[in-house]
Amino acid sequence: MEIYMAPLRGITDCIYRTTFLRYFKGVDRVMAPFISSLSAANGTRRIKPAYLRDISPENNKNTELIPQILSNDPDDFLFTAQHIFNLGWPEINWNLGCPSPMVTRKKRGSGLLPHQGQICRVLDAVMARYPERISIKTRLGLDSAAELYRLLPILDQYPLTEIIIHPRLGCQMYKGRADLEAFQNCQPLTRHRLVYNGDITDQDSYSRISQHLPGVKRLMLGRGLIADPFLSTGLKAGGLCLKSDSDRDILKSFLDDLLQQYQGRLCGDSHILGRLKGIWRYLAVIFEDSDKVRKKITKTKKLNNYTEMVKSIFAETPFSS
Ligand SMILES: Cc1cc2nc3c(=O)[nH]c(=O)nc-3n(C[C@H](O)[C@H](O)[C@H](O)COP(=O)(O)O)c2cc1C
Repeated sequence: MEIYMAPLRGITDCIYRTTFLRYFKGVDRVMAPFISSLSAANGTRRIKPAYLRDISPENNKNTELIPQILSNDPDDFLFTAQHIFNLGWPEINWNLGCPSPMVTRKKRGSGLLPHQGQICRVLDAVMARYPERISIKTRLGLDSAAELYRLLPILDQYPLTEIIIHPRLGCQMYKGRADLEAFQNCQPLTRHRLVYNGDITDQDSYSRISQHLPGVKRLMLGRGLIADPFLSTGLKAGGLCLKSDSDRDILKSFLDDLLQQYQGRLCGDSHILGRLKGIWRYLAVIFEDSDKVRKKITKTKKLNNYTEMVKSIFAETPFSS
């Protein structure tokens, strides 16, 4: 089994990714959150320096990183791809999954899925330059799974590396469950390798998915991995174990390390706390009474309150079983 860390914009930045890989095992490949270019009125394009810093090799030293592009235009994609390939990364992922209305309204992310002609125009240009170096991460469609069912056979003509499917519709955002039958329907429609992504949070959800999709050997973990950073180790070991005292120490050291690095990189308590609270939004479920834990962290306004709060949570609150 190969495990990928999913991209989560606002959470899995280079500090989170590289620190995670130093403390936890089981993740084989890591995808960075999407980047896109900005175009000025005079037609020139640029990429925000912060985006390039996040995927620079110096900031991703222990990582087999797959940067991701959000785009719906051949020239724009090629411009961004060239910057990324110049950094030395072997592969880029194309985001056809983002469900945010701000993105889909512009026919980007899952908003491009109903527009197959435009998808082909982008791929014709990009594949001519970069065969075997592009993968796609997609949802089932914006409004209907028929969109992906129609698209998959068309994608057979392109030399993609693989397709990662999160089997929800864009219009669902994160509501409902990942649709395992729809993923199954996709399997015979493509010659490309498929990676499964969606709702793997523990041993039970993993077992349900692997029983339903026995041929799938590659999994991408998102929110479940942020909530339980031991998830990838447990799945690789063939079963999640009860967490030990030393696991508590590892998790605490991981969080302390993140805090220290964010303090070195970001300015101002609220900025740093924003990052950490984004992680705790998911991580709180590793503790009993997770709503209370989440609330305690959310209400901290200064870094010293945060540090005290984390200390007291680790001293007093058992992990959930
Ligand atoms: C806060 C947040 C940010 C995300 N950012 C990205 C992104 O930049 N690129 C992307 O392809 N998917 C992004 N996703 C989607 C995840 O990568 C993943 O596909 C989704 O959460 C489903 O997987 P999960 O159920 O394992 O979390 C994001 C999801 C969340 C919740």
